[in-house]
Amino acid sequence: GISDKVLEVCSELILSEKHLNEVMERLRKEIVKGLSKETNETATVKCFPTYVRNLPNGKERGKFLALDLGGTNFRVLLIELGGDNREPTKFKMQSKIYAIPQNIMLGPGEALFDHIADCLATFIIENSMKREVLPLGFTFSFPLRQEGLTKARLVTWTKGFKCAGVENEDVVRLLKEAICRRGGAEIDIMAILNDTTGTLMSSAYRNHNCKIGLILALWLSMIIIQDVEIDVCAVLNDTTGTLMSCAWLNPNCRVGLIVGTGTNACYVEKLENVGLWDSDYNEPAKVIINTEWGAFGDNGVLDFILTDYDRDVDEQSINRGKQLYEKMISGMYMGEIARLILERLTKDGHLFNGQGSDNLYKRGNFFTKYISEIESDKPGEYQNCRQVLEELCLNYITDQDCKDVRYVCEVVSKRAAQMAAAGVACLLNKMGEKSVVVAVDGSVYRFHPHFHNLMTETINRLADPGIKFDLMLSEDGSGRGAALVAAVACHNRTGPG
Ligand code: BG6
Ligand code: GLC
Repeated sequence: GISDKVLEVCSELILSEKHLNEVMERLRKEIVKGLSKETNETATVKCFPTYVRNLPNGKERGKFLALDLGGTNFRVLLIELGGDNREPTKFKMQSKIYAIPQNIMLGPGEALFDHIADCLATFIIENSMKREVLPLGFTFSFPLRQEGLTKARLVTWTKGFKCAGVENEDVVRLLKEAICRRGGAEIDIMAILNDTTGTLMSSAYRNHNCKIGLILALWLSMIIIQDVEIDVCAVLNDTTGTLMSCAWLNPNCRVGLIVGTGTNACYVEKLENVGLWDSDYNEPAKVIINTEWGAFGDNGVLDFILTDYDRDVDEQSINRGKQLYEKMISGMYMGEIARLILERLTKDGHLFNGQGSDNLYKRGNFFTKYISEIESDKPGEYQNCRQVLEELCLNYITDQDCKDVRYVCEVVSKRAAQMAAAGVACLLNKMGEKSVVVAVDGSVYRFHPHFHNLMTETINRLADPGIKFDLMLSEDGSGRGAALVAAVACHNRTGPG
């Protein structure tokens, strides 16, 4: 069995049914506060209307660019939606990951947007796109107060970003300005062109035939210049992209959930419940609400279940006092919670014979993916567990240590899954629909071996009787999903219906 001391230390992370019901009830209250015009300003769960009101109908077609900022990877994507053919394997997508160095994540906003525009230009050149006007969907996975589909102010940075001069600004304007500063893709193409021109010019010079060289160079420049015009059609949250991408295949999809670096959910709400709604009231009388539930608890309503480990993680974060629910659930913090418990158990002499290591005691050194790896070991086997512990330079590892370490991981990930499940159950109960598909994405949900099952079991217990639901992995929320939002947006812009 598990050591008594380990059981004792971990006990405060185990949530009772009463706790979970309380979490659900408190979240419901915060959501209602967020939706109402009178209380939104002081609400923690902001419930931003997204201005996305139509779910896809499968007829969307065309070529789209998408930017995906805010998850593990920054990506640029090119998507081709093919009309009536919804088969997931049939739509075309190219994408490329570009690194965002830490100094850009924490530096001036202008440098961040310049970097994004640079990557976009490189992508366009590498994919030899030319003479096109391409609609672009910008997946920006941070809290946005939207003023329309293409106007949205960043409320506050979350997760690992903190770029100066972006909060309160319209991120679509910042993106467009950076693209303009960059001169679209043409600057680079001019550079390529200059090389060709250079070669031609110099050989022309050698041949004493400058004029022909020059004419040739000019002629070449006309075919080489690719003028791709970028039309930023929509800015969206990753939860919205996740919901849209899944809704494209499944009309019962009403919730988009992310459990990745951060956590958040969006859902389809009736306009009559959205006091914040300030646009037209024509059909359909519903809108996707981006709850930004990561901030749940920032006013103290989760204090009754917070542990010292949660407070420690919060203290050491770049956004102290903010995103408390997110810090109990998501991948950016889960590994650190486990590490803090392991550190304490080791220092108290209950693990590894009291022999820790600098690596184990270093902040951020126990990655969330270790939890997934350790819990992927077959019962009674500790292959991954030993490998992780060796990576942390721990010696003298007994089977009992492995058993206990695994237990710590299980307690931390189970609490995360149950907290997220309470959130989903709260949305399901609030919507009151009989049958709902929940679209899910994010590294924790994808890679943790039991997250899906843990969530499903818990939602089954917490959702009102008679509500049926499915958690479905959503593919390419910020690719296909962003393209779909852009498609709906451009469609609405260019014509009726
Ligand atoms: C990805 C989506 O699959 O999941 C992103 O394309 C999203 O838009 C991400 O932000 C969330 O997961 P993670 O683990 O990368 O933060
Ligand atoms: C953070 C962001 C939110 C995003 C979530 C998942 O909570 O604030 O906008 O959806 O992370 O990426």
